[in-house]
Amino acid sequence: MLNLQRYPETKNSSLKLSSAADDYILEYISDTEIDKNNIVIANDRFGYLSCHLYKWNPSIIINYSSQEKSILTNCKNNNLSINSLRLLSPLENLATKVSLALIRVPKSMELFRLFLTQIHKQSDENTLVIASFMTKYFSAQMLSIASEYFQEAEQSKAWKKSRLLLLKHPKEVDYKLNINPIKTDYPFNLQQYPGVFSSNKIDIATQFLMDNINLKQTDNKILDLASGNGIIALKILKQLDENNWPEVEMHLLDNSILAIESSKLNLKEYKAYYHYNDSLEDFELNYFDLIVSNPPFHFEYEINTEISLHLFKESFEHLKKGGRFIVVYNRHLNYSPFLKKYFSSVKISKENHRFVLLECIKS
Ligand SMILES: C[S@@+](CC[C@H](N)C(=O)[O-])C[C@H]1O[C@@H](n2cnc3c(N)ncnc32)[C@H](O)[C@@H]1O
Repeated sequence: MLNLQRYPETKNSSLKLSSAADDYILEYISDTEIDKNNIVIANDRFGYLSCHLYKWNPSIIINYSSQEKSILTNCKNNNLSINSLRLLSPLENLATKVSLALIRVPKSMELFRLFLTQIHKQSDENTLVIASFMTKYFSAQMLSIASEYFQEAEQSKAWKKSRLLLLKHPKEVDYKLNINPIKTDYPFNLQQYPGVFSSNKIDIATQFLMDNINLKQTDNKILDLASGNGIIALKILKQLDENNWPEVEMHLLDNSILAIESSKLNLKEYKAYYHYNDSLEDFELNYFDLIVSNPPFHFEYEINTEISLHLFKESFEHLKKGGRFIVVYNRHLNYSPFLKKYFSSVKISKENHRFVLLECIKS
């Protein structure tokens, strides 16, 4: 019996480590007829499938730094050596033909497509792909995307409100370019990989922050925290250029590898430092003059503000004295009382009926 935990841990007991959609996969593949010698697992957020199938030495597609930490921690806690883990990003090619691919279907259908592309490239007539999901999250698009890649796309019976999509016989596929342009009214072009926050358009909260951000000439070390495709960092760098202000040391940090890779595309004319992490742990304390953020609170189908609250605390610790934390959020999230526990000054820079932009100063 494995002892598995979510990373980061949560106090919210309604947030679970796994669901019936995970157990349905394990139950289905317990059939000894299914070839498990070359398993690939995608979108296994906390390592539930990876740890249960560890003995088969699966290749595990990792999109998030927190996912990698979760899988490593769960392996260590269960005495499963991490040296033999085969981890790869969604942008890498699988090394060998796939006999069995297991996908926990992500909320983003374009990310689902990216996983299928990666798996399809190493599929043949002997490959079985199992995509599992909770029935309430089923969409017709899931089926139509799967059918672009595989001739047979059969749905299982529902079990505990979950279902499996069983894909066989790969089709000839003309792989589509997996970088999407984003429309903006700003004088710069943006693009991003599938599954990165706010596909095709600029998020309204991000726009609210960008239109109202107050920069100072003394802002030298800057962090775009939860940077997504890098749009906020890019806007700041452009604004500094327009003012002919001195060069700054710009850092971008995001939990998603696809976000970080997208921001590298968008900021290629600038010097910047990229951090694929879910925490500020690798920075010195009292380091930054300015941290800006449109922080996360949606994770797939979950809503979780604990992660942002932790990032706020870390932001406080990594700002210099006099440093500023500028954050935008949906009004109902009401982050201000929490931030007041740390920052001596917490002021509203701008607000409307939906969003609040706060400037917090560390004294
Ligand atoms: C609301 S989006 C903002 C993205 C971008 N700044 C923008 O405004 O378009 C939040 C971002 O937080 C990232 N994220 C989630 N958890 C994180 C964590 N623990 N540390 C850093 N980034 C995280 C997500 O990958 C996502 O890109």
